[in-house]
Amino acid sequence: MSDASDIRPATDDVSPDALAAEAAEVIARLSGIPQHDIALTLGSGWGKAAESMGEVVSEIAAEQVPGFRSSQVVGHGGKLTSIRLSDGRHALVIGARTHFYEGHGVRAVVHGVRTAAATGAKIMVLTNGAGGVNPAFAPGRPVLISDHINLTAASPIEGANFVDLTDLYSRELRELARSVDDSLHEGVYVQFTGPHYETPAEVRYAGIIGGDIVGMSTALEAIAARQVGMQVLGFSLITNAAAGISATPLSHEEVIQTGREAEPRLAALLAELVPLLP
Ligand code: HPA
Repeated sequence: MSDASDIRPATDDVSPDALAAEAAEVIARLSGIPQHDIALTLGSGWGKAAESMGEVVSEIAAEQVPGFRSSQVVGHGGKLTSIRLSDGRHALVIGARTHFYEGHGVRAVVHGVRTAAATGAKIMVLTNGAGGVNPAFAPGRPVLISDHINLTAASPIEGANFVDLTDLYSRELRELARSVDDSLHEGVYVQFTGPHYETPAEVRYAGIIGGDIVGMSTALEAIAARQVGMQVLGFSLITNAAAGISATPLSHEEVIQTGREAEPRLAALLAELVPLLP
């Protein structure tokens, strides 16, 4: 059992599963909730959704949980929240994402997902803010992720473990999401490493190889979730037209601003959808 005084980062000296189990134990102890059913990672624009899904039972600072760091990125929170849904189930909201570009390695990037699984969650809802490559995807709108292309040249899976990624983003859960909002488009998410935004040529390339959305998270997390047998539901909030798609240069402020404006809509979407998840 750990407390705030002996927190360790997700590094090489402890197995990822052992660290996730340790983190889940601390979450259970600090929240008083022995098991969670659903987990969500809320990216840019999605933060307000936590309180709208149910009753907040507990908020834990990320630094109190083994393997977690508080995010350095403006607009990304740093806490884990337990929410009681109206039917008595519990959702764990992970507001402490580690990005690949932070340089702490893939184990740190997917520690939140592995911890979610260790708390008992069977469904992982991954959300992010992303750039629109598909011109039909207007800034301010949420899009369902139907599939991804991982351009990080990395995998969270270690060793000869050949995990099937067909239907990685659950068709069943996407249909459920569309039953709540039939205006939701679907698109292929392309993960670049960042932290720089893409060049217009890279955005054109992403479109040519089948991408609709570009971002810097989610694909590695989705793979880790599938490896541990979770069902994955992915959403991108289009925070901006990707580089070269619109004439104006990109800025992190624009991304945050669009996220803020979209928050009520995204919160309403998840408030309606999450209680319906199986
Ligand atoms: N590219 C990559 N990541 C992003 C973008 C983008 O245009 N917008 C928000 N996150």
